[in-house]
Amino acid sequence: MHRVVTIDGPAGAGKSTVARLLAGRLGWRFLDTGAMYRVVTLAALRAGTDLEDPDALDRLAAGLDAAFPPGRVLLAGEDVSQAVRDVAVTRATRFIADCAAVRGRLVAWQRAVADRDDVVTEGRDQGTIVFPDAFRKFFVTASDLERARRRHEELRAKGADSDLEAVLADQRARDARDASRAIAPMRPAADAETIDTTGMTIDEVVALLHRKVLPSP
Ligand code: DC
Repeated sequence: MHRVVTIDGPAGAGKSTVARLLAGRLGWRFLDTGAMYRVVTLAALRAGTDLEDPDALDRLAAGLDAAFPPGRVLLAGEDVSQAVRDVAVTRATRFIADCAAVRGRLVAWQRAVADRDDVVTEGRDQGTIVFPDAFRKFFVTASDLERARRRHEELRAKGADSDLEAVLADQRARDARDASRAIAPMRPAADAETIDTTGMTIDEVVALLHRKVLPSP
């Protein structure tokens, strides 16, 4: 197996941005595992699959034609990078995240990537379940309000109509579900280092993680 740096943490902590930039600095591959859960969700919504039927979800995931070229998500060749971030998709991801059979398939995809390349991977269960022997593990978080503000600003920058209170309420609900899930709940691995990014810029976080991954001699 190649070297793996895991970045787990709650929604809106900036994990994707930080993981992507850190991977760029290291020259390693970036793995956005949330995008995998999202593309299965999008495909299920489009196909009208019963989200409460684990067998149907597993069949859908087994036949899924998804690809993750750098920075993009493709579904049957169509670029769905924006579509997978829709609020409707975000809300429905819990059905996919709670489905053991689908999780098993996605974990296998994730490990296959790390068989080929050094990776910086981000998600909820990367340090605990998927890569227990990772080279370095981080749990990246920030205060509730700061995380909600970041997502709110991001949505507004894209021209979306966003309400901070609604973003905060959705985020709290998703955090609670992610942390209490029966399988692969979100929690820091025992050997993960927690990084609280409240009040830090993205560049500061990336520089800090970079120093921790590859301390200068
Ligand atoms: O990080 P994100 O918001 O793109 O993740 C979308 C959902 O996918 C999240 O609510 C929980 C789920 N998820 C998961 O269960 N395990 C992962 N490794 C990554 C995401």
